[in-house]
Amino acid sequence: MTDPRDVAARATAGFRQVYAEPPAGRWAAPGRVNLIGEHTDYNDGFVLPFALPQRTVAAAAPAPHDRWTVWSELTGETVAFGADEVAAPGRVTGWAAYVAGVVWALRAAGHPVPGARLAIASDVPLGAGLSSSAAIEAAVLTALVDLGGLDLPAEHQPRLAQRAENHYVGAPTGIMDQSAAIRCRAGHALFLDCRTERVEHIPFDLDPAGLTVLVIDSRAPHRHVDGEYAARRASCEKAASLLGVPALRDVPSTGLDDALARLPDDETRRRVRHVVTENQRVLDTVALLRAGAPRQIGPLLTASHASMRDDFAITVPEVDTAVEVAHAAGALGARMTGGGFGGCVLALVEADQAATVAAAVTTAYAERAFTAPTHTTVTPATGATRLD
Ligand code: GLA
Repeated sequence: MTDPRDVAARATAGFRQVYAEPPAGRWAAPGRVNLIGEHTDYNDGFVLPFALPQRTVAAAAPAPHDRWTVWSELTGETVAFGADEVAAPGRVTGWAAYVAGVVWALRAAGHPVPGARLAIASDVPLGAGLSSSAAIEAAVLTALVDLGGLDLPAEHQPRLAQRAENHYVGAPTGIMDQSAAIRCRAGHALFLDCRTERVEHIPFDLDPAGLTVLVIDSRAPHRHVDGEYAARRASCEKAASLLGVPALRDVPSTGLDDALARLPDDETRRRVRHVVTENQRVLDTVALLRAGAPRQIGPLLTASHASMRDDFAITVPEVDTAVEVAHAAGALGARMTGGGFGGCVLALVEADQAATVAAAVTTAYAERAFTAPTHTTVTPATGATRLD
């Protein structure tokens, strides 16, 4: 019998049911939280995500001809498409667009993608800002690369998955989520330079330090996320061009005041200040973690939240409440993680304080008549892997 708690077993059971044969293999890719570095990726800056234990599994086998069939546990649907639908971004829609997008991006880059049958199951919560879309892209991408014996090393895979999301699905995201889903290492955070795609795995094993990361899902309804995300991105690009630099990454924090003085309006100045100070906070966080001082990153996390709230204007009352209350209840630092307008808050807490902090947030939500939050503690897990 299939253990319903085991996502890989569910993907296999789905595969057998739909295709009446066992899969050739199973590939898993995780969701992520971003420790710090928000809205810096598309500004060619720095990010520091880590992979969640929750993951998406693709059970897969090759199929003849240019034909892809995919079943999803989430909807129980099976969607099939061929080369024509893949060639035209927008033809495959809904969750299957992430799969078609990966096939499209591989073919556009000249890879001989094999036809395939796939079955997908996932433990990554949807709509919580934990990057369920990059998890599905990465699971499918690694499956197709292995099944086809394609020459595509892991370090080049995130850019390709990002293209699937940008051009096929149509979401103008940066490269952080796909990089986390593919390149993270267990026990580490991924320090990524989004311009060069150079990575460094920074030890982030909190157990021995008596610390943990509490992830609180604010359950706030996402409001206008896509439009607001695109607007922030456009405003950053406009500011970079006004400042005569390729990207806001090129404004050093020591040159921030000069840069601000050259910008025409308060809103643009605030957007730029967020990105420039956030890049510096990532560098400072990395320096503290390298020095073995994880408790000291707390104030940087909280400063990051204030910057997202006051300068980048991407928070909502539910996440601000979670951050404020977590802090008051003893968290060393807390911030919203992900694109914004809802989603999750992470709090760095002493391991024996996690339950107290979570309970304080739950009480505060009830007092304000917000939807009850959910919470979990997480440890950094591995990026995309072949399971068998
Ligand atoms: C979303 C995007 C990422 C990144 C974050 C904000 O998760 O997919 O590329 O821009 O928002 O840091």
